Amino acid sequence: MTSQLVYLNGEYIPLNEAKVSVLDRGFIFGDGIYEVIPAFGGKTLRFEHHMQRLQNSLDAVRISNPLSNAQWQAIIDKLITATGPQDQYIYLHITRGVASRDHRFPDNAEPTVFVMSNVLHAVDPELLEKGISAVTLDDIRWQYCNIKAIALLPNILLRQQAVDRDAAEAILIRDGNMTEGTASNIFIVSNGIIKTPPKDNKLLPGITRDLVVELANTHKIPIEEVTISEKEFLSADEIWLTSSTKDVLPITQINDKHVGNGKPGPVWQDMYQKYQDYKEILRKTSN
Ligand SMILES: Cc1ncc(COP(=O)(O)O)c(C=O)c1O
Repeated sequence: MTSQLVYLNGEYIPLNEAKVSVLDRGFIFGDGIYEVIPAFGGKTLRFEHHMQRLQNSLDAVRISNPLSNAQWQAIIDKLITATGPQDQYIYLHITRGVASRDHRFPDNAEPTVFVMSNVLHAVDPELLEKGISAVTLDDIRWQYCNIKAIALLPNILLRQQAVDRDAAEAILIRDGNMTEGTASNIFIVSNGIIKTPPKDNKLLPGITRDLVVELANTHKIPIEEVTISEKEFLSADEIWLTSSTKDVLPITQINDKHVGNGKPGPVWQDMYQKYQDYKEILRKTSN
């Protein structure tokens, strides 16, 4: 526990003083939504996209957005300034609020709002050089994986199974097709074409994913948003994961077998550089 400044229900207070009721529906039911927004050089990456995804998630679970985008921006800016000049990731969390324990929606609960910002450390250069290992597992999650819900028990159990096998991520297979990682979207390169599954209810619409698709299109690099079978996935020339805190990371071992020649591939190298360039431009942009 630290004394870092956080936002809770309208107040800026030290983290170690931030408390919510045990009857909060987030605590009791996991009834809430969250977002993670990276910030480089004090500027949030794709703020509007994150706000739109937040709104979509809140709408999907029928929690009304307690703040305007301008209010969210003001809170985030204040926490970024308090945290310092380093790159950061902002975690924001909204629950349906405090009410006596009953599954049905409470009549008059006020959403609980929590926001904090933490330093975002650059990805370990050794991981960029060697890549990471992952395993495939059955996607046991629910039918609304497009909602960024705080209830992450399936993702936690799946990630831990990967960790137990000395792997960094579990990549999930549903009905014979690859969906995403437990906390990441997945890309493959097959015969020179980048591929990632289309956005639907089986995966979270990652902001990093969308940016990578956009960068590929801008630079005329062949990319397809298509269903990827487990078989095609396991025989890919390259596999990458994307997320706000991991950027674009090469996966070089899958189920203890090499991906391609077991080294990060040239298409990843190119996209990684384009992603870094994009962040660098953001860092240099004035507020
Ligand atoms: C299940 C899942 N998929 C994908 C992502 C990547 O999303 P983003 O790029 O917006 O961080 C995350 C991020 O945490 C995630 O939890």
